[in-house]
Parts: sequence; C-alpha cells; structure tokens
Amino acid sequence: MTPDELVLFDLTVEHACDPIDVASDQPRFGWKLGGAAHQTGYQLVVECNGQPVWDSEQVRVPGGVDVEYGGPPLASDTDYVWRTRVWTDRGVTSWHVRTFSTTLLHSSDWQAAWLVPAQLPTLKEHYSIQQIIDHTAGSDLPAADRLRPPLQVRQDVTLTGEVTRARLFASSQGINRLIVNGEELDDRLFEPGFDTYAKRLSFSTFDVTSLLSEGDNAVGMILADGWWAGRVGITGSSAQWGDHLAGIWQLSVTYRDGRRIVVGSGDRPASSARGGWDYSDLYIGERYDARAGTDGWCLPGFAPVGWDRVDTRTDGREILIPFTGEPVRRTATLRSRLVRQGAGEYLLDLEQVIAGRLRITVRAAEGTCISIAHTEVLDTDGKFFENILGPNKDQVDIYICRGDEVEVYEPSFTFHGFRYARLTANHPFELDAADGIVIGTDLRPTAELRTSDGRVNRFHENVLWSQRGNFFSIPTDCPQRERAGWTGDLQVFIDTAATNMDVRQFVERWMANVRAEQFDDGGIPVVVPAIPAMDVPKNVIQTAAGWSDAVVFVPWSLWQHYADIRVLEQNFAAMRRWVDFQFEEAERQLPERLQGRNLSPSQDANHRLMWNTGWQFADWLSPSSLNQTEDAGGAVKPRLEGEVVAAAFHAHSTALVAEVAEVLGRTEEASQYSCRAARIRRAIAEEYVLPNGQILLDSQGCYVLALAFDLIPEHLRPASIARLVELIQTNGVRLDTGFLSTPYLLDVLWNNGEKQLARDLFWRTSPPSWLYPVTMGATTVWENWEAVRADGTPTLSSMNHYAFGCVDDWIYRRQLGIAPTGPGYSTIRIEPDLSGPLTSARGTIETVRGPISVTWTRDEEETFVEGHLPADTAGVLVVGGHTSQLLPGPFSYRERSRGTKVVSSAPASP
Ligand code: BGC
Repeated sequence: MTPDELVLFDLTVEHACDPIDVASDQPRFGWKLGGAAHQTGYQLVVECNGQPVWDSEQVRVPGGVDVEYGGPPLASDTDYVWRTRVWTDRGVTSWHVRTFSTTLLHSSDWQAAWLVPAQLPTLKEHYSIQQIIDHTAGSDLPAADRLRPPLQVRQDVTLTGEVTRARLFASSQGINRLIVNGEELDDRLFEPGFDTYAKRLSFSTFDVTSLLSEGDNAVGMILADGWWAGRVGITGSSAQWGDHLAGIWQLSVTYRDGRRIVVGSGDRPASSARGGWDYSDLYIGERYDARAGTDGWCLPGFAPVGWDRVDTRTDGREILIPFTGEPVRRTATLRSRLVRQGAGEYLLDLEQVIAGRLRITVRAAEGTCISIAHTEVLDTDGKFFENILGPNKDQVDIYICRGDEVEVYEPSFTFHGFRYARLTANHPFELDAADGIVIGTDLRPTAELRTSDGRVNRFHENVLWSQRGNFFSIPTDCPQRERAGWTGDLQVFIDTAATNMDVRQFVERWMANVRAEQFDDGGIPVVVPAIPAMDVPKNVIQTAAGWSDAVVFVPWSLWQHYADIRVLEQNFAAMRRWVDFQFEEAERQLPERLQGRNLSPSQDANHRLMWNTGWQFADWLSPSSLNQTEDAGGAVKPRLEGEVVAAAFHAHSTALVAEVAEVLGRTEEASQYSCRAARIRRAIAEEYVLPNGQILLDSQGCYVLALAFDLIPEHLRPASIARLVELIQTNGVRLDTGFLSTPYLLDVLWNNGEKQLARDLFWRTSPPSWLYPVTMGATTVWENWEAVRADGTPTLSSMNHYAFGCVDDWIYRRQLGIAPTGPGYSTIRIEPDLSGPLTSARGTIETVRGPISVTWTRDEEETFVEGHLPADTAGVLVVGGHTSQLLPGPFSYRERSRGTKVVSSAPASP
C-alpha cells in the first residue's frame, strides 16, 4: 500500500481481525483509510450463508471507528461475512470483504456439564496483612504436603461424519490446558485467565476443525489450581474461590452432509489421573517428575485403566461469559548468561527482569532433582537475594529427571517475576541451555519511540518491560509478590499503557470485573478481582482515593485514546454510583482530625461536601512519606494528605462524570455533576487553600493534584505554582511525589511556565528520579524510587512495578511531541521539545485512525521536523514560535540558523 492509495486496512470486528469469538450480538466494525483523505460515508453489509443479514446502505457520515451493527441480533456460534466500502473526498474505495464468527452468546447455549475429577480439596491457608507485617504468615509444611497436583481429565468423542467446521468452547475452575487427539489446541496459557470468579468466569473459543476426524477422538484437559484455588495476593492465601478443580467444554461440529451436532463434557463418561506433576501453584512453583505420567493419554483408543471416575455437575454455568481480547502467551525467549557455576550450583542471568519462567535443557542421571529458584536482584556481593515480602517468597520450580540423554523442562502452570535463576540439584548435572520464557497477555505494540539519549531510551524500554510483565490476564501491580489487580496502579499508568500497546479489550475486560466487584453502596474495591481473604477489614481499606477512582479515570482514558464510546456507556452507571457513594460518605462524616472540634456551619457544610474521610493510601510512596514514623508524629502528615488527596480525587472524578455525561448526550446529568463538582471545588478552595495560595498540606503532591485538577481559584494559581516550584527547589530540585501525583507532575510544571524545571526533574540521575534506576542498571520500573540504594543494596521493594513509569506518556507528548487533543487522536498537537537535552527523537503512535509519526533533529545549523498524519485527522504543528495547521499526510518544518523557516504540509485534498 502506498501512502496515497485509497484503500482500507486494519478491518476489525470488536477490535480484532477476522475473529472467531465475537461475543456481542451487536458488534462494532472498524477500518482505517489509507491515503491522505477524509471519509464522508460508508456502506456495510453483513451476510450469513450468502444471504444478507444487514445492509447499512450508504451512510453519509464518516465511519471507521466503532461502527455499530444495526441489524437483527446475531446468532450464537455462527459464521458471517462482512464487506464495506467507503466514500471519501477523493472518491470511493472498492469493497473490502472480511469474516467473523460469533461464539456462544448466551449462557443458555451451554449444554455441557462440569467435570469434577476425584481430588483432595485444596488446603486452606489464610493469612492477614498484619501477619505479613509481623512476618508470621506462611506455612512450615513442605510444599509437597501443602500443594495439590494438576489433574488430567480425558473423554472420548465419536464423530459420525467428515468434519467441515468444529468449534470448542472451554472453561475451568482452576487454570487449564486443552488437548485434542494428542495435540495442544493453541499456545494460550493460564486459560481461562483471572476474573471475579464468583460472578464471571470466562470461556475461550477454539477452531478445532483440523484436529478432529470421523470416528474416535479424544478431548483432554489438564487442570491446575491457578488463581481459583492456589495462593494469591500479598497474603498468599489459598482456596479463595473454591477448593476443587473442574472443567467444562462443549464441541460444536458441522459435518460435510450439513448435520450439526453439539457434544458437551457431561455427555460421555470421563476419567482422570495425575500426570507427572506432584504439585503446581501459580506463585509458589511446581514440581514435575518426568518419570511419572503416561504418554499418549489423550489419544483416541487410550485405555484409562486405573484412572478415576469423574463426577459431573451443572451449577454455575450461568456466569460463563465469552473471553474477549488477547490471551496470555509466551511472547519472547531470552538466552541466559552464566554468572557463576560451582559447588553444584548454577547462577544464571537473563539480563532482563521478566514475568515468565525458565526452560532448561539438561543431561542428568535418572532421579536427579533440579531446583530452580528465582529472584529479580542480587545483593552487593553478587549473591542471590530474596526480595519478595511475605509467604510467596520461595518461588521454586523442581524437575526430577527421567535419565534421558537430553531432557527439556519448562514449568506448565506457574510463572515468576525474576531476572536471575539459581539451579541446584541432589546430583551433578549438565546444563546445555537455560532460556527465559517471557509470558504475558499478548498485546499488540502500538508505538515506537527513540531519542538521542540512550538513558531515556532504556527508561522507555523498562516501562515496556514492566507493562509486559504486569499485563498478565489482568493489570497487576507486580509479577512476583502480589500479582494483584490494584486499581490505583492501572489508574496512574493507563495513558502510558494505551499509548504503548492496544490495551482496549484487555482493559475493557478488566473494567467488567471492576463493575462486577462494585459494592452495593457504590464503593469500588482497591483490588480487582477482589481477593476475599485479603483480610483488610472492610471499614479500613474498603475503597481509596486514586484507587477506586479507576472506575472513572480508566474508561475516560480509553475514550481519549480510542474514541470508544461504548466503554463510556458501559461504565457510566458504575462511575455515577462511585461518585454518588463519595458524595454520600462525605455527608455522613467528618475527617478524624476535625471530629469533636467546633466547626463553623460553613466549615461543617464544606467538609460534608468533600469525600475526605476513611483510610487512604494518599500519595503512596512519595519519598518524604516513607520517612514518616508514627512516633515522630509523622503519621499526621499522611492522614492530612489522605484528606486532601481524597477530596481532590472526589472533585475530579465528579467533574469527569459530568464530561462523560456530556459525551453521552445526557445533558441533565452533565449539568447535575458539573454543578456538584463546582461545589466540591469551592469547598476544597475554602478549606484547604490558604489566602496566600498555599495548600494546608504543603506537599508537592498536593499542589500537583490541585493544579492538575483545577482546584485552585484562578487568582491564587500563580502563588500555588510558585509554592510548588519553591518546594521542589528547596528539596534540592528533587521530586517528592507518589503514585497519585507523579502522572501530573511534569505536565503541571510544563503547562505553567516551568518547562526547564520539568526537564531538570526528568533528567535527574540521582534518587528520587526516573533515570536513577537506569544508571543503576535497572531493566524494569521499580516500585520505589530507591528500590536499590546507591551502593547497590537491594531493598524488599518490587523491581517490576509500572506505576512510576507513567511519565512515559509525557515523553511521547512533550519530548517526541505527539499529543492527542481530541478523542482517538481525531485532532493532534505536534510540538516537540526543541529546547531540552534531546537533539533528536523519532516515534510513531498507531491510533484508531492510522499511524501518526514524527521525526525531529536539531543541531547548530538546522532544526528539522517531519512526520505524517493519518486520514480523518487534523492537527497543529507548534514549532519555532509558529502554529501551523496540519492536514492528513506528510508534513515538515525546517529552520536554519540563518533564520529561514519553512513549513510544509500535505495540500488540502481536492
Ligand atoms: C502494591 C501497590 C498497591 C499498594 C496499595 C502495594 O502492596 O504493590 O502497587 O497499589 O499496595 O497502596
């Protein structure tokens, strides 16, 4: 395709190309237009078996982004063909034809029954956060006595004709791997992923046409504890949703003669047995004995002699929902480097912190038991260092050799966050190879970024690695210690995440879990899926500012990045319920600090408008908050900070709800919430902003949030900005911001005349700063600004937490210079930073309308900027004191030191 060609590309249904698992009976279609043109209309036709199901006829408005199907509801498990053509200001495109299939759209489509193999229930281990703090959590029992083995379940299926189409739908309580006639179905891992299991359980759809044949067939499933029954969260508590494993599948087969049959997992007797695994836990690891297990157990004709009978049950099918989006897969393989070998030990370095596992190729005598321990960091002597806090710390995989000439082992139902692996064994063995298998949700990268500064490039790489390591079925905080869906972590990272990768379906699926977890009173938990035995008393950390607000901020960001209105429609009710909850809570009580005090009626009324009560994480992990101790009265600061931060988020969430209502055309609600937001803002200004523009809690983070959320009265803004600048400067030009304010720090400075200070903070290399970890050899983003001390001493912080990586988005917008100004990059501002430390940058962002690219260089002689805007966009180029309008197509700007300035943009289309 040449840039000028009038063709459509990236044709999608529900954001996927030719999907076979469309989960909606009213899907959305998408396409992008090549050529510097504007769409003026489209026609879309959907057909089934050659018959039209819906014809939009010529629609005279631009399409391409989430065009909704408008025909009668689509049927379950059906193949469709769709075609579209587009009218543009440069003519009409040809018809473009693609396909899609629906999956099971209704839970009533399930005829299969659950298969429940004979098993010992999972051992229940429940620990509290307090036990973690006191270091008393954890079991003394050996892993083999605490953990349960994965189970193999098999079933014969007889087919009575030549198969022309076959789909398999499958899910499990526990994680599963599917095998049909001896072949693994697919490269998906940890199926069906992590959901709010009490309310939603995903099932996956597979095309198994080529795996089945007339006559005898065998379907097998290996079930393991996974999130369902295994240890989860910081407390490492087990059996959080169930203590028994079960699997369910349903085959839909079409024969050449036109007959169509459905076979369910309950239709035939099934049998089960333990394979080679002694146990497998998602966090703790697994032990596999290669001498055990049976080959060929899932081939037709295998006689399951001595296998156990499998029970069936039919409850709980109503919560089965189609999985949407990208599955978890192996996404890369990294060679390891041998750091040290000696005394029966190999220490290996992947030279990259990852989420995944180690695949080893070994030569060893039968019965040799090889243990693989994992860590993200070594100590100052280069020794293995356990940096995981709590009972999940011993993450070890064990392989017992069969004695073959060469054996290859990769664990199956576990993963770890690590960079280094230590291999030890009870007998000598030879290690031929050891590779790091990188695992995560297989998201499509959507951006590229390269600058003249190698440290900035490495930082950007680190952010990508942390996104890869933590976008693992759900968005997690870290892939080693907790692996939990902390809502605040995604809230602060979402803009960066959505720039770097196409996270739409991944995040929308998680948002469905957020809605499912919303409490009856409208509160949103701080971890989703919520872990029942987190043992955080409900009245202590039920909800928290900046965490629970994810229900508002995250869909709003998705809208900004992808212009996906359905995400706003789907989440609007939950957003409203959340801000209404805040509003009601505010009315109900006063902050602890003010209880029993003699407040004036207006003070009382103000505080009853702002949600500023309850337990808060405040600006979590800001450097100065870490130095606070209860004894030194330091706990007061976080508490007051919690008040201000909570009120600020309450105001901003309410304002965003008003904006969402506006976008959705709900004008009454828009004005209701914007009035309410204005009242909350006024209360904040009266109670927390002093007449000199200072904030009652005089911390960098509070100024940043108040300025970013527009909470400071206009006439006091200059004074507040000046105070923020002063705080940064008196702190030695060092930031003092935590999770919640860091995403806004540099923008607040940038937008308020303090560009150089923003650059000074960003380019700092001593802690706390973004580039300090880079200078310390970090390969991912750390949880804490100083997770490794300057002398190399590691702390117990995670080395793979993406939250502080949120500044990556600022690099795209303010350094490379691509910033969206309209939803889905319908309008764009190109404004590279030509006065900072960078001398060149190039990058691309793949938007829903096509790629936007920018390359710029500057030296003493010349400044040169060039790039490209996709069809259906408009932009401005802000350089050298000029603002020029941009049209779709190429643009460039050249300024010579002698003073000539030349801007050129694609000519307006005829
Ligand atoms: C997690 C965070 C999370 C936080 C709540 C931590 O233990 O790792 O990333 O957001 O708790 O403050």
